[in-house]
Amino acid sequence: SASIDIAVIAGDGIGPEVTAEAVKVLKKVTAAEGVELTLTDYALGAEHWLATGQTLPEETIQALRGHDAILFGAVGAAPGDTRIPSGLIEREMLLKLRFSLDHYVNLRPSFLYDGVASPLAAPGTIDFVVVREGTEGPYVGNGGVLRKGTMHEVATEVSVNTAFGVERLVRDGFRRASERPRKKLTYVHKHNVLVYAGHLWKRTVEAVANDFPEVSVDYLHVDAAMIFLVTDPARFDVIVTDNLFGDIITDLAAAVTGGIGLAASGNINMDRTAPSMFEPVHGSAPDIAGQQKADPTAAILSAALLLNHVGYPGAATKVEEAVAADIATRNPAAARTTSAIGDAIAAVL
Ligand code: NAD
Ligand code: IPM
Ligand code: MN
Repeated sequence: SASIDIAVIAGDGIGPEVTAEAVKVLKKVTAAEGVELTLTDYALGAEHWLATGQTLPEETIQALRGHDAILFGAVGAAPGDTRIPSGLIEREMLLKLRFSLDHYVNLRPSFLYDGVASPLAAPGTIDFVVVREGTEGPYVGNGGVLRKGTMHEVATEVSVNTAFGVERLVRDGFRRASERPRKKLTYVHKHNVLVYAGHLWKRTVEAVANDFPEVSVDYLHVDAAMIFLVTDPARFDVIVTDNLFGDIITDLAAAVTGGIGLAASGNINMDRTAPSMFEPVHGSAPDIAGQQKADPTAAILSAALLLNHVGYPGAATKVEEAVAADIATRNPAAARTTSAIGDAIAAVL
């Protein structure tokens, strides 16, 4: 019988506020579809570390492996919070999950909904997806420091790119491009300067392109890609890029499509050897936490990506349509609370 078993990691700051609304919507849509929904909460994040000293114990990773998918809110302390080492939770919990569960496709769709005010004067039709590598690059923690604290300090942060890792990501990008109407793939890097990793990416894209003759391919250096993201975002269809470039590109992509409160993502293990994890692109937003000011739409759209991944594309489409219907009625002059937005989207369902 139809059922979904989801682990919920609400996290810190606005994480619990926006996740509550995503859960509200998931309950509504699964009930309507006759799908049995099981939710298990996991306390993890900065607050959990402060209370217990634990980041992400091995037995928690094992327990998470038993679920169909993970719904994630956000983690992280406020910048300048001295009670917690900077980046500890981000590295030892969030990135550790992405790496341990082999979330190699970090999927970040960008869509400008009708009724959303873009900061761009003439945005055109924005409908692209960033396929960001999720397990390699400068994120792997391969670095070190010599003579720390002296005038002669040397710090390295080595970007690790493997043929295996780049190939599976690039192939996923081509597959997605081949299934979209425009069938266009743009790979973004900086191979004029990053000649080792950049050229591995370049050769990989050229090789995989042979298997997808229907997909048109172009390349942009990341700096120029940022120009076009602002001057002509309609040119993009599928963007494939490395972990760090993808992080930066997708915050700008969120801004041009009406704000970080709308941007959803999936950390996807396409081989399904472990559960995938779905989360808003944004962080814990300490500046607005606890005030019911956060927009839960990104979390709700992330739940739609989850439904799609676990085999309920019809339910996913219903959630996306409910979000689109709600967005079309939004009045920027009349701010709603986080839970009011969740209620409104659930009501459409
Ligand atoms: P952030 O995304 O948390 O906030 C940036 C700005 O966007 C803030 O002004 C915030 O109020 C606003 N914002 C974010 N989400 C919003 C929403 N749903 N509705 C309305 N406004 C929203 O980024 P930051 O300030 O750089 O990071 C804060 C903390 O979050 C840090 O500890 C950081 O490491 C962490 N972080 C975690 C994740 C994650 O868990 N996936 C992602 C990014 C940052
Ligand atoms: C994101 C975040 C994370 C990232 C951080 C918090 C590790 O910025 O999900 O975009 O850089 O991937
Ligand atoms: Mn980010």
